[in-house]
Amino acid sequence: MHKIKLRHIQQAKGLSQLLQKASMSSQPRVYVTRPDVDDSGLELLRKSCNVTTWSQTLPVPRDELLRQVKGKDALYCALTDKIDAAVLDAAGTQLKCVATISVGFEHIDVEECKKRGIRVGYTPEVLTDATAELTVALLLATNRRLFEASKQVYNGGWKSWAPMWMCGQGLKNSRVGLYGFGRIGQEIAARIVPFKPAQITYTTRTAKPAEAAKVNARRVDFDEMLCLSDFIVVCCSLTPDTKEVFNASAFEKMKPNCIFINTARGGVVDQNALYDALHSKRILAAGLDVTTPEPLPLDDPLLKLDNIVILPHIGSADIETRKEMSRITARNILAALNGCQMEAEVM
Ligand code: NAP
Ligand code: GLV
Repeated sequence: MHKIKLRHIQQAKGLSQLLQKASMSSQPRVYVTRPDVDDSGLELLRKSCNVTTWSQTLPVPRDELLRQVKGKDALYCALTDKIDAAVLDAAGTQLKCVATISVGFEHIDVEECKKRGIRVGYTPEVLTDATAELTVALLLATNRRLFEASKQVYNGGWKSWAPMWMCGQGLKNSRVGLYGFGRIGQEIAARIVPFKPAQITYTTRTAKPAEAAKVNARRVDFDEMLCLSDFIVVCCSLTPDTKEVFNASAFEKMKPNCIFINTARGGVVDQNALYDALHSKRILAAGLDVTTPEPLPLDDPLLKLDNIVILPHIGSADIETRKEMSRITARNILAALNGCQMEAEVM
């Protein structure tokens, strides 16, 4: 009697495992290129998808990505993954969606995705405040020389209070030029207003009178921004038009007291020209959250300069922001797999 009961239990267990296996194989297959995105996003996916993740907390190597993406219905990627025709070919025609845990999407060949009917998701809005906050933090660290000054406390350079020692250039009464005046640019402007600049200007492709009115900003062309600004803050998207737009000729036009801040993408700057401008004191200082390449090699000449602050691409690195970015990326995938409207789709 007891033996028969045990056999029934074993059969039921086997059946449930088989059913589970069958249902998993019929579930959409999602490849996630990082294991360390917040689990709340992965949990959302695991409820109805068969999820596989890259195992290491570094970008997935290209050949591994090409292998793993095969047969997947959706790809959850990051800004460190180049998603081009070769990746889409390797995936196969069943791939329905590529979703990146970033607002920038220049690492994805969107045209190629569109041609194949593959939808592209991204994470605008949610990271706007965090990135604007970091940009202002970087600007203040650069103009008030925070890291350079702090180093003196540790290395014995701090001898006494001194009237003109470690002086920087304040934002008050300055001219601040924003290159890009989208979601992040507008929030940076709003955070700069309380520092009482004399004027905020912006350079974009399209005029934004209503948004500009909120911070009393004036639209200027690129050359005017270069020639007039005490601070230039780069917050545009990286496109073929903005690639290395900050080159030797642009730095040549800047004022000698200009402080250059970039939290957009390293690709908008000709980094050799920036080095020359800083080294020769053609401009006063720079603050970068983004570089080419990332990470910057330890022997990069920029790291030898005193008049630069470099951060490791942490613009949106606020805990709640990153958690929500993970969930939005997951929800974008689920929406695409179900043929619904995505929360944020690159159009
Ligand atoms: P957005 O709302 O699309 O704003 C992009 C801005 O760039 C727009 O104002 C756009 O002008 C401007 N722009 C594009 N091409 C231009 C050109 N040729 N000349 C002048 N302006 C141009 O995007 P967002 O949400 O503010 O994000 C901006 C970028 O910040 C992202 O693409 C990403 O690369 C970067 N980002 C970095 C971090 C970080 O961790 N450091 C975090 C988040 C974002 P129009 O309005 O005229 O189109
Ligand atoms: C960060 O750089 C992003 O594009 O989200």
